Formats: sequence, structure tokens, C-alpha cells
Amino acid sequence: MKVFQTKKSLQAYLNESRALNKKIGLVPTMGALHLGHTSLIEQAKHVNDIVVCSIFVNPTQFNDPKDLEKYPRTLEADIALLEDVDCDVLFNPSVEEIYDNNEKWYLDIGDLEFILEGKFRPGHYQGVMQVVYKLFDIVKPANAYFGQKDYQQFLVISKMVDLTRMEIKLTICPIVRESDGLAMSSRNRHLTAYDHELAIVLSRTLNWVKENFYKKSIDALLEEAKLLISSNPNIVFEYFEVVDGLTLKPANHQTEKVVALVAAKVGNTRLIDNILIK
Ligand code: PAF
Repeated sequence: MKVFQTKKSLQAYLNESRALNKKIGLVPTMGALHLGHTSLIEQAKHVNDIVVCSIFVNPTQFNDPKDLEKYPRTLEADIALLEDVDCDVLFNPSVEEIYDNNEKWYLDIGDLEFILEGKFRPGHYQGVMQVVYKLFDIVKPANAYFGQKDYQQFLVISKMVDLTRMEIKLTICPIVRESDGLAMSSRNRHLTAYDHELAIVLSRTLNWVKENFYKKSIDALLEEAKLLISSNPNIVFEYFEVVDGLTLKPANHQTEKVVALVAAKVGNTRLIDNILIK
């Protein structure tokens, strides 16, 4: 695997490949890689000649400086994992390589920025768009891959690509779960064994809502889901919503694409998860 830290060296390599008509796929990550990330790389390898994985813990998407500080950084293990799945290129820039001092960014994506995750993490999605725009501009991939676990993030990035008219095909890849149902996440390594046990309630509740979708009203489902999750005092419930999968506005039983999304703090770790209901 080739490893680049600067835009210039990465672009020189990619330009040569592009001149040979090679198709480039990008998997943007913040590192602390797990099987969810490697599934994205594997998916990318099916349709691209060169797969670039970026590892960059992006400061502008953290609204809480403590969260940024404690975000796991495991570069050596990440490189080993990327080599195992035959990733072609790792782009691992410094903050200075990506950002100039006091850089400004704002893109109006309407309500999508402020609902669900946006409500609990103000400014988060502007930071995500800012860095993904930069990564797209540097790598100029034909395809880019994101995990379904960050369902709202995928919609935000799709909207950004539409508004900025970037010609990049985005692919959303299924959530990879532990055998007990917990959605894989870089943040899971902060969970104690006890927290991990508790966290399983998130995927269990999502599954329960899916199974009972046509048996109860959506209000009743939401009420029950909230009760199930907040019944343990070590879990701080943030939201559980059943929404239209395209707009993230509240769904009803007739909505064509429905997704249930949840966020909660388990111990000291904030987790999100979701399930496609239909
Ligand atoms: O999903 C993530 O890991 C990050 O939000 C992303 C897309 C790499 C941007 O920093």
C-alpha cells in the first residue's frame, strides 16, 4: 500500500493513474478502523482500479473539544488492517495540510443540518461537508463510499454533492454488526464490557420497532422504544425517530422508504444506530 501525507504527492500519483484511465474510489474515514470500514474498502475494490482510504480526524466536525481529544487514534493497527484488505493507497494528512488558518465554510442544506444529529451536535455537518468537499477535491474520485450507520451523514453529503455539482457517485454500504447486534463503530472501543452489554438495547429496540411497524401506531412505537432504552440509568436517551428515509421528516405507515434512527449515551460514549424498516 502506498502512503501519502501531502496533497501534492497524492495528486501526482493519482494523476498518473488517471492518465492510464484507472478508476479511483475513495473511502473517507477518521481511522480507528474496524470491519465496517474494511467492508467499504472491499466494496470499493469491486468497481475501482485504485482504492484510496483517507484517515483524517477532522477537527471542524467536533463541536466538543474533549470529544476530539479522546477520539481513538490507532494508525499502526489501521495500516495493518488496510494492508490485509489490499487497500491501494492511504492518505493520512496533518491538520495543517488540510486547513489554512481561520478558514471559513458554509453551505446551506436547509433543515437537514439541524434535525436529529444536527440538533445534538451543532455545526457537525458543516464540518463534515467541509472536509469531505476537500477530500473529494483532492482525490477527485469517480466513486465514494460511506457506511449506513451514519445515515444522516450520507444524505448530507449527497446534498452537498448535488449543490456543488461534483460528479462523484456515492454509495451507502450496510451496517456491519458485532455478533450480539451492536453496530460497529470506532467509538465502541471506549465502551467497558458492562457498557457494551447495555448498548445492545439500541439494536434490539430498532429490530423490535421494525418487527412491530405495522402492528402499532408510530407514536406507540416511539414511546415504547424510548422506555426500553432509557430504562437503564447508565443510558442517556437522546432521540429515537421513525422517519422518511429520503427527507428525514416524520414517517407514517404509507411512507415509501422508512428508517428508524437512535442516539444515546451509554456510560461516557455516545452511540448512534439505525435500521431500514422498509
Ligand atoms: O464518517 C466519518 O468517519 C467522518 O464523518 C468522515 C466522513 C470521514 C468525515 O470526516
